[in-house]
Amino acid sequence: MTEPRVAPDWYESAGVRGGPRRMLEEDREAGLTVFPEHLVPHLHHEGLAGAGADIRRALLTQHFYQYMLFTSHLETKVVNRGAALVAHGETDVELGPDARLDALKIYSDEAYHALFSLDVVQQVEKATAVPVLPYDFGPRMARLDRTGRVFLPDHGTLAHILQVVAFETVVTRMLARIPRDETVFRVVREVVGDHVRDEVHHHAYFARYFKELWASLTPATRVKVACSMPHFVNDCLRPDIAPVRAALLSVGMPAERAEEVLRDCYREEVLTAGVRDAGRHTLRLCESVGAFDIPEAREQLQLLGLAD
Ligand SMILES: [Fe+2]
Ligand SMILES: [Fe+2]
Repeated sequence: MTEPRVAPDWYESAGVRGGPRRMLEEDREAGLTVFPEHLVPHLHHEGLAGAGADIRRALLTQHFYQYMLFTSHLETKVVNRGAALVAHGETDVELGPDARLDALKIYSDEAYHALFSLDVVQQVEKATAVPVLPYDFGPRMARLDRTGRVFLPDHGTLAHILQVVAFETVVTRMLARIPRDETVFRVVREVVGDHVRDEVHHHAYFARYFKELWASLTPATRVKVACSMPHFVNDCLRPDIAPVRAALLSVGMPAERAEEVLRDCYREEVLTAGVRDAGRHTLRLCESVGAFDIPEAREQLQLLGLAD
């Protein structure tokens, strides 16, 4: 089997190697919005129909902050934890020197993604004067760790690796469209574009990595891995509601009204459909190795509403 690899010209092509620092210049952003409005479900709720432009802008900006801060935490705390394990050979798959070095290239990419995500948050905060609300990655981390404990309690670092496989192979189609969305701040389009370009290589690396990993597992461990994957996909894609609540309260919405907006905009079936859509590549990857031919895993897939 071929080993997982990143771009052969990584030293020339990776954003961290030669990409410019993206800067917000206010005259370039005139008439544009910080994030696409259609990606913010609660902005379309009737409870906000009468809200003034300032409130709508504040909510949109908070949504942008949350996405960027989520990215920054995720890269450093989840993806790079796994990338380091791969690089140092502290996993169940034995890789050759090139593939291990590539894992550190990914590590460098992700550290840079975390850096430019936080950088652009700070630049937008300065330009718009919409204060960044505190962001807590803890609940997401707790969900990911819980899935590891439930399905792979005796497998050391395997859960950390599978979390990376899930995050690196899901594809959020809507985000991929941001670089071409001419209504959005140029700096945001540039930063998201830089990110998407690197991630194409990561996706290929971890899809290949997963296949190698699967081939090396015992039948008993395969069952556990197959059962855990739908949960990891769900853990990484299901949006956090708490930051949305905090954003609604921050613009002065009464608590009861905020709960109503959350209930209406983040209904279970809508969230599940979103996970199914963005997770389809990862689920197909699992399917391609026969993971969902295992009845217990099929059951978990159905339990989460992620079966076709
Ligand atoms: Fe990244
Ligand atoms: Fe990545």
